[in-house]
Amino acid sequence: MEGLIYLDNGATSFPKPESVYKYMDYFYRNFGVNPGRSGYDMCMEAGSMVEETRKLLSDFFHGTDPNRLVFTYNSTDALNLAIFGVLRPGDHAITTNVEHNSVLRPLYHLFQDGGIELEHVPFDAKGFVDPDEIARRFKANTRLVAVNHASNVIGTVQPIGEIGRRCREAGILFLIDASQSAGKVPIDMEAQCIDLVAFTGHKSLLGPTGIGGLCVREGVEVRHTRAGGTGVRSAVKTHLDEYPYRLEYGTMNSMGVAGLNAGVKWVLEQGVEKIHEQEMHLTRLLRDGLQGIPGVTLYCADDLENHISVMIFNVDGLEAMDTGTMLDVDYGIACRTGLHCAPLVHEQIGTDKIHGAVRFGIGPFNTEAHIHAAIRAVGEITASRRK
Ligand SMILES: Cc1ncc(COP(=O)(O)O)c(C=O)c1O
Repeated sequence: MEGLIYLDNGATSFPKPESVYKYMDYFYRNFGVNPGRSGYDMCMEAGSMVEETRKLLSDFFHGTDPNRLVFTYNSTDALNLAIFGVLRPGDHAITTNVEHNSVLRPLYHLFQDGGIELEHVPFDAKGFVDPDEIARRFKANTRLVAVNHASNVIGTVQPIGEIGRRCREAGILFLIDASQSAGKVPIDMEAQCIDLVAFTGHKSLLGPTGIGGLCVREGVEVRHTRAGGTGVRSAVKTHLDEYPYRLEYGTMNSMGVAGLNAGVKWVLEQGVEKIHEQEMHLTRLLRDGLQGIPGVTLYCADDLENHISVMIFNVDGLEAMDTGTMLDVDYGIACRTGLHCAPLVHEQIGTDKIHGAVRFGIGPFNTEAHIHAAIRAVGEITASRRK
């Protein structure tokens, strides 16, 4: 770890703020019991922390009922709950080519075995999905539009307010995958007409792995696709309908919730806009540096206006994986290579044929020195190819 330059924040943020490590340790040592299951003080205290975190996150997304913010393992889990809980045989669903497999695969399973119709909307040359392209595909049986807010591959931020407005006018449910955006780009369920927000705790919300959630707008119902213990009303034979129990099953990851509590508080203290501004300053520096190296190809990086701090590139004549290995072994720089669990993005930009690309993901603890080192390293790797 000593000396490592961590540019893999698209996979998970690292390090976390000091307050996250400290609060998780404090919480688990003092209140690491099963929250909401009994009436003794420790249990009540653990339950209060969970409820406070629900409210923090519900407010963060401009939800109107904190009980409709349910905790899940991660965004994959939340997206599965939403997609399988909303769609029925005969429904039509629309998604995009920007999606991660956590949206593509649940939808594909329902297309294959669950009797739904499915369409994928492509993005334009700069990496943006046109809201009108989505609206043009609306049909009488369209129930759900699922869109990745910020791409984990090309970094583009989709116009979710515009898409949400079109969905609301047509009476279609709108689900966003906020895995990469929550903590970097403001999200307002009310103003942007979003029905369901799926998020993960371990990326830009700066919590640990194993915790995420789904925020469900009032009036939107997600069917149970699981059943189990809720800690209350144990004599009822079926899973409870009321939130948050409706979408929470079994003992929760309370230590994860504690870490997320501290992570969100850190983000709020710094300010989402300020974090984003600082990361985009470094992203522009990185883009300009890489663009100046002959033999380096960047993808969808010309317009950084609606963008987050992830960027992909390739070096002429080198497999992405080999570039990644050189960055790691020769320069101590951590990045991510391959298809990034988003195969349709690579298919559309043509990088699927060369086994993907190299991704740098910038986080709040990166510095200009890290970016200069990365540009220098890519420059040297590229120059060595030309010799
Ligand atoms: C856009 C996007 N969606 C979904 C996910 C899945 O997140 P998790 O693995 O935390 O469920 C990721 C993670 O890389 C992502 O980048």
